[in-house]
Amino acid sequence: NRVVALIVAAGKGERAGGGVPKQFRAIAGKPIIAHAYDRLAQHPRIDGIVIVAADETQLREALGDRPLLAVAQGGATRRLSVRAGLDAIEALGGADIVLIHDAARPLVPSAVVDRLLAALEQASGAVPTLAVADTLVRKDDGTLADRDALARVQTPQAFRFADIMTSHRAWNEAAEPTDDAQMARSAGFPVALVEGDPMLDKITRPEDFALAEARLGQRLF
Ligand code: CTP
Ligand code: MG
Repeated sequence: NRVVALIVAAGKGERAGGGVPKQFRAIAGKPIIAHAYDRLAQHPRIDGIVIVAADETQLREALGDRPLLAVAQGGATRRLSVRAGLDAIEALGGADIVLIHDAARPLVPSAVVDRLLAALEQASGAVPTLAVADTLVRKDDGTLADRDALARVQTPQAFRFADIMTSHRAWNEAAEPTDDAQMARSAGFPVALVEGDPMLDKITRPEDFALAEARLGQRLF
């Protein structure tokens, strides 16, 4: 079973601000993209890593001599960036399983990868999720949404490679999807939910960098 990790790192990080895209800023002295790379590369089931970036020179500077199977050119949306990465994997001869991961989630616990790969024995895709802590209301009329029926979705998201490739090729909805599980479901493939981890929360806004650094200091995966 050939397992490839695909890290999408071609966003501009507009909400995080700071001049340089968030995935190239450092926490604990190491670029965020390098944290994500190292956490995935050390997993014994992951055979290689492909990264999608807008600027390959900037990526190589951040990663030093870490090996890559391929670097793909980013697209205008996350979906198109993932697609570029999937096409690059296919050009390398494909894979059995692909783990699609946001570069903006630097801290990837091995146990989450274990749960995703185990779930793929039964399903076509698997995603890490967390319960919602806050009360949820509808903005139009303030009525309560059923929190227990909802979950927050993280990455990495694991898929059988052939199925996610099919899902991307079939996607024809007007709205841009925010993750790949939506696309797999839309194409009719079953996606399992596994327990995620707060460590995997995405760096989105300026205050999230310090939070990720604190989490990194608190726990050894
Ligand atoms: N991403 C990408 N290509 C895009 C847009 C996003 O590869 N055209 C990647 C980002 O680099 C990030 C992940 O998708 O790792 C999740 O996206 P998000 O958190 O929205 O990052 P950005 O789009 O960079 O941030 P923002 O939306 O605040 O500009
Ligand atoms: Mg974005």
